[in-house]
Amino acid sequence: MLIDIITLFPEMFAGVFGESIIKRAVDKKILEVRFTQLRDFAFDKHRQVDDSPFGGGAGMVLKPEPVYRAVRDVLSKSDENISRKIILPDPGGEVFTQAKAKELAALDQIVFVCGHYEGFDARIYDLADELISIGDYVLTGGELPAMVIVDAVARMLPDVLGSAESAVTDSFFDGMLGFPQYTRPREFEGKIVPDVLLSGNHAEIKKWREEQSLALTRTRRPDLLK
Ligand code: ADE
Repeated sequence: MLIDIITLFPEMFAGVFGESIIKRAVDKKILEVRFTQLRDFAFDKHRQVDDSPFGGGAGMVLKPEPVYRAVRDVLSKSDENISRKIILPDPGGEVFTQAKAKELAALDQIVFVCGHYEGFDARIYDLADELISIGDYVLTGGELPAMVIVDAVARMLPDVLGSAESAVTDSFFDGMLGFPQYTRPREFEGKIVPDVLLSGNHAEIKKWREEQSLALTRTRRPDLLK
């Protein structure tokens, strides 16, 4: 999968993409991540990417021309017949879910357009195939949401997770929270690992885990069961 990130702040991604599962996916060539500096597509001599809003008001608005030029440049660098989506992280978008992560993992390319000012010129929205929000709060820009989405998508790609980290045991994998996990020691500060997990009875363990998933979901996230 090819991920393109159009941003004014590519350095923000180094830590998150340089470690752990995303790094492994890149090293294994399952994932390729390219960055495009939005400012390189500003056409005036001051390389201005934002301007004050028509009609007045506080803050600056991201200008349409650099964004359109950057997106067109990115699209021109890959085959137009591959399956791809242009995603705008935006608090007004559809709220991101595990199901959406799985859906996006089936694409060949995702292009993220990260804004970093008070808003996008409304015409920029016409470029997007989808607006995605990572929750009902406002962040400073689209970079953190893009990192969150890439992380969740990358671990859904085939061969990214080792069998020891299988997504099957994840919370949300089957629409429910994951079951409780334990490791050594068997007893810690009086808290004891449930006997069934030490029983060696795989059918009983599976049944216990399913019951626990359901019970946890019912108490912590009953909205998921609706
Ligand atoms: N940009 C600013 N806040 C955001 C959010 N919550 N989700 C996605 N993009 C955003």
